[in-house]
Amino acid sequence: MKFQEIKNNIYYCGLNDCDRKIFDELIPLEHGTSYNSYLVKGSEKVAIIDTMYPPMTEEYIKNLEENKIEKVDYIVENHGEQDHSGSIAALLKRYPEAKVVTNAKVAENIKNMVDVPEDKIKVIENGEELSLGDKTLQFIIAPGVHWPDTMFTYLKEDNVICTCDFLGAHYTFEDVFAVPSVELEHSAKRYYAEIMMPFRIMCKKYTQKLKEMKVDMILPSHGPVHKNPDYILDLYEDWTSDVPKNFVVLPYVSMYKSTESMIDYLAEKLENAGIKTLKHDIVDGDLGDLAMGLVDAATIVLGTSMVLAGPHPASVNIAYVASVLKPKAKFAALVGSYGWGGKLFDLIAQLLAPLKLDIVAEPLQVKGKPKTEDYLKLDEIANLIIEKHKSIGIM
Ligand code: FEO
Repeated sequence: MKFQEIKNNIYYCGLNDCDRKIFDELIPLEHGTSYNSYLVKGSEKVAIIDTMYPPMTEEYIKNLEENKIEKVDYIVENHGEQDHSGSIAALLKRYPEAKVVTNAKVAENIKNMVDVPEDKIKVIENGEELSLGDKTLQFIIAPGVHWPDTMFTYLKEDNVICTCDFLGAHYTFEDVFAVPSVELEHSAKRYYAEIMMPFRIMCKKYTQKLKEMKVDMILPSHGPVHKNPDYILDLYEDWTSDVPKNFVVLPYVSMYKSTESMIDYLAEKLENAGIKTLKHDIVDGDLGDLAMGLVDAATIVLGTSMVLAGPHPASVNIAYVASVLKPKAKFAALVGSYGWGGKLFDLIAQLLAPLKLDIVAEPLQVKGKPKTEDYLKLDEIANLIIEKHKSIGIM
């Protein structure tokens, strides 16, 4: 349990969930996660900002009770997703005088998702303020920094901002303040890759806005609190940049090592030319590692075996995942191996089409193992990737 003062009557009252292994039934968690909730005691009113994941509601309310929180006037909900809104109903039962303060989109979501009665909700507009006495909450509606309902809450007098899922990390901690480390940066990047990358343009916009606001602290809804906002904002500036790095990711699935040998060959050629590469075995690999690779990659080389008369279903899944994550990659190549015939790349190309990637060469479809002439074609693909990277000034 946690209850820690962050600054001048602003308290952390969230919980770590060390045992959670997967998020949204999709994203593997390396370090569990935290669901952050903040309590703000003004001279006249008390507000809670964001609540708790439903299975941890009992522990969450007990934590508030043990820390003698007898009165809550406002429950500010920055986002409707249940990991933050899941305890509103229980909080309203415990603190029946409280009103839920949120924007219209969150209001619609919490009515439908967590059964919050309409008459308990106070809908606010972008920029509106709410006084707690000596503290003022200002609401900044930030649609598309994850969900269309996303909002930030700025505590004006203290110059701190609760950024909801934005700038978070699936990470657990003892002390709520971030201590920069390789592990934290890794977790924050992985979180950005899996959750925020589809909204890169909006993340870039709000990274800039927060830099301009020169806030003293960033209080996200997962992971530690940032006393040094530039630490996380500088990382986001890099990850959201429009310019990819001199880096190629090569996700592949290979039933009899033929496709794998092509991927190995290409990766070695590219590395020898000075391009960093990440080979990713789609079946055995961790999806989060691939997503992190996609944050920076300029080129995606997808390798697949054929199953029946089409691409291996695992490669279809990855092409779909890549298309929804919307990485900034600019180039692609497709290679693969088949046994008796069919269409290896049509579906993959269709799934990747929304990314508008420049496919650098005719997809290479090899029967069985690659032969001498196939290796020559792989040389050609490697050379074309090198030229493309040079053409955008990253090597
Ligand atoms: Fe952490 Fe979108 O909820």
